[in-house]
Amino acid sequence: MNIIVTGGAGFIGSNFIFHMLKKYPDYRIICLDCLTYAGNLSTLAPVMDNPNFRFVKESITDREAVYKLFEEEHPDMVVNFAAESHVDRSIENPEVFLTTNIIGTAVLMDACRKYGIKRYHQVSTDEVYGDLPLDRPDLFFTEETPIHTSSPYSSSKASADLLVLAYHRTYGLPVTISRCSNNYGPYHFPEKLIPLMIANALNDKPLPVYGTGENVRDWLYVEDHCRAIDLIIHKGRVGEVYNVGGHNEMTNIDIVKIICKELGKPESLITYVADRKGHDMRYAIDPTKIHNELGWLPETKFADGIKKTIKWYLDNKEWWETIISGEYQNYYEKMYANR
Ligand code: NAD
Ligand code: DAU
Repeated sequence: MNIIVTGGAGFIGSNFIFHMLKKYPDYRIICLDCLTYAGNLSTLAPVMDNPNFRFVKESITDREAVYKLFEEEHPDMVVNFAAESHVDRSIENPEVFLTTNIIGTAVLMDACRKYGIKRYHQVSTDEVYGDLPLDRPDLFFTEETPIHTSSPYSSSKASADLLVLAYHRTYGLPVTISRCSNNYGPYHFPEKLIPLMIANALNDKPLPVYGTGENVRDWLYVEDHCRAIDLIIHKGRVGEVYNVGGHNEMTNIDIVKIICKELGKPESLITYVADRKGHDMRYAIDPTKIHNELGWLPETKFADGIKKTIKWYLDNKEWWETIISGEYQNYYEKMYANR
């Protein structure tokens, strides 16, 4: 089995590559990633010498490069993680989100149509469903919940999802889509809530909580997401959408307090800052379909996952210190200085 994994130098894509190479030693994995600010080749160092792994530095928006790769590798499957993934950046500059997340998806699927494919899998997000109110804990996102996006990021991901379903209906492309809730774990880029709070706390810097901190996210350990995608690409029904989430809703402020406690840092580091524009209130996935059809269940409890994650950041300081000492400093200044 030859699988092109796009965005594999990022957070979830790299964890997925490690999962696949370990579980399927006879599969060939080709990582296609153009190494944006969020892509990090050092992340893939553990597999670089694996004869079943190849890294290709190209953009999913580059049609010529993508077609050339298909001619060289004859992939059986494509799993598309490549995306601009940060909501705050999409609010600052939506354009690259449209190019990568929408056009890039179309280019990949055109290549699949031209050269043939057994499966095209789109890694999508629960954010396509918009948000839920805090006072209706009985409500969850199902696969039938209407698309109702809030940010340029989620709108670009929803647009891609619609294209994927259209390519299935119009051209018969064998597609699947997974819509997952918030992931956390190793190699999470330090602009995102959990790694940002860990890094800032370790450096005794303020912990910037947006608005009241009451917004709720449904956290899933990244390995559980990788197992879900593995199941969907092998056993999921073509043309179907699968929601992935672990019934693990937590407020942002509770997460930050847990991180303070685990690291022995004072809660006085917590600083309430201006809210995110259009900030979604609550995400909550109903994972009944993937559970009933494919037997998937999350395996990592949050209490264990957050300990493992914090330990990983303590053991791998060089990885994130290198990131936050570079261009990231300008980004952080711009985003947080006058917030
Ligand atoms: P990330 O930002 O950590 O990584 C994105 C990767 O894509 C990087 O390696 C980057 O270099 C690469 N990339 C960006 N533009 C590219 C292009 N034009 N061509 C090739 N490569 C490109 O993102 P992540 O958090 O790992 O998310 C991966 C996917 O999962 C995204 O599609 C995201 O929408 C989705 N998702 C993320 C979460 C989450 O909690 N992080 C949850 C649900 C879904
Ligand atoms: O739900 C899935 C989505 O989860 C993915 O599709 C996105 O790619 C991923 O980035 C993530 O989006 P969020 O916006 O939920 O994640 P983020 O880590 O940016 O923020 C989580 C919550 O924490 C959100 O309510 C905003 C808040 N926050 C975030 C940052 C970076 C803060 O309060 N302070 C911060 O500094």
